[in-house]
Amino acid sequence: MERTYVMIKPDGVQRGLIGEIIGRIERRGLKISAMRMNVIDENDAKEHYSEHCEKPFFGSLISYVISAPSVSMIVEGKDAIKSMRTINGATNPSEAMPGTIRGDFALETGRNVVHASDSVESAEREINIHFKDDETNEYTRIDEEWLYE
Ligand code: GTP
Ligand code: MG
Repeated sequence: MERTYVMIKPDGVQRGLIGEIIGRIERRGLKISAMRMNVIDENDAKEHYSEHCEKPFFGSLISYVISAPSVSMIVEGKDAIKSMRTINGATNPSEAMPGTIRGDFALETGRNVVHASDSVESAEREINIHFKDDETNEYTRIDEEWLYE
C-alpha cells in the first residue's frame, strides 16, 4: 500500500480542526499508521520545505509551520498520495473546491491548514524527516475487506 506524510499545520491545531481533519481521513478509508503532535524543529521544517528555499515566502513559511504545535501523520492506503492531495484541495484556498479541507476551512495560501506529500519520493523523504522507524504501527482496519475489491 502507498503511504504519505500529512501535517495538520499550526493554524489547524489552534483553530480546533484536528478532529474534523482526522475524521475526513478516516472516513475516506485511509489508515493512520503513525501520529504525533509537536512543535516542529526549525531545521526539520527547513529540510521539509527545502524545495522552496529560494522562494520569497520561504522565511514566513518556516515561521508559520514552527510557530505552534502541529500534528504529523503517516497515512496509508490505495493511492494515498493522490487521495490526500484531493482531500486537502488546492494550495491557494480561494481556488480550492468546497468539500476539500482548504476549500471548507481556509482563506489564504499562507494559512492553508494542512500539508500532504506530492509524490512517492517526497512522501518517503518527508516520513524520514518526521518519524523514526519505531514510531510506525502495522495493523489491519476492520473494514479493509469492504474498502478493497
Ligand atoms: P504543502 O502540502 O504545504 O506542501 O502545499 P502544496 O504542496 O499544496 O504547495 P507548495 O508545496 O507549492 O507550497 C508549500 C506551502 O508553502 C503551501 O502550502 C503554503 O503554505 C506555502 N506557500 C506556497 N506558495 C505561497 C505563497 O505564494 N505565499 C505564501 N505566503 N505561502 C505560500
Ligand atoms: Mg508541497
